[in-house]
Amino acid sequence: MNRPVSLLRQHIAEATEVIRLTTSMRPSIGIILGTGLGELADRIEQECAIPYENIPHFPISTVESHHGRLIFGRLAGRDVVAMQGRFHFYEGYTMQQITFPVRVMHALGVRTLIVSNAAGGLNPLFRRGDLMVIVDHINLMGDNPLIGPNDETLGPRFPDMSEPYSRRLIALAEDIALELRLKLQKGVYVALTGPSLETRAEYRFLRLIGADAVGMSTVPEVIVARHMSMEVFGLSIITDECFPDALQPLSLEEVLQAARTAEPKMTQLITELVARLPATP
Ligand code: HPA
Repeated sequence: MNRPVSLLRQHIAEATEVIRLTTSMRPSIGIILGTGLGELADRIEQECAIPYENIPHFPISTVESHHGRLIFGRLAGRDVVAMQGRFHFYEGYTMQQITFPVRVMHALGVRTLIVSNAAGGLNPLFRRGDLMVIVDHINLMGDNPLIGPNDETLGPRFPDMSEPYSRRLIALAEDIALELRLKLQKGVYVALTGPSLETRAEYRFLRLIGADAVGMSTVPEVIVARHMSMEVFGLSIITDECFPDALQPLSLEEVLQAARTAEPKMTQLITELVARLPATP
């Protein structure tokens, strides 16, 4: 669905209205939890969890992301809202549908967005189970959530992408990782549509163009967040090694297992980051 400008604004207002009637929390921090990364949601002292189907104009979840909920609560003493379950392009949603929740979070007052995902490692120095801070991205999804009429009240026609991932939050995460003795990689995330995994030739190509990790999410949400000038922090869990000359067949179970193993590290890092988040500029 490619909504005209005024309709998008109306839909955001209607979704926001329902949420505001359900909870009095007004968090300025939003979190999107990726595949297999639900543990952080359990760390949130929940005030309220709203199933996506109760929020007007939220996409209807497919089977895989069936327990989609917007969780409001406190994490490390800060008010947060977290998406438990995200929408993927390969499920058939449009880019506008995938990113609608980010628009709603912004309308609710969220100014800092933390995104997480499971990704394949392309950098030969990366190992399964590593955490990677996303420092930049490459959009190879062949689409963009901002295509179509632009609503100037939300953001500019040509949003700047010179710093999609906040440098100060990257630096803060590096400080925290050092203190907590967590191994933290840094790299460029490339997004493809999926759902088929990549061929050896594609992995070789992705490495050649400068990517360190590959996945099927995050980029649309980050583009829309930056359109509205939100500050973004992105974290990938490297769930498998995508080295073209030593490639092994990959099962979803392996991805989920690696995500589960690395999840406590991610939870620790994000919790501490939230605790130390400076006021949004
Ligand atoms: N490609 C390869 N490996 C992965 C991906 C992907 O998109 N996501 C998680 N592991």
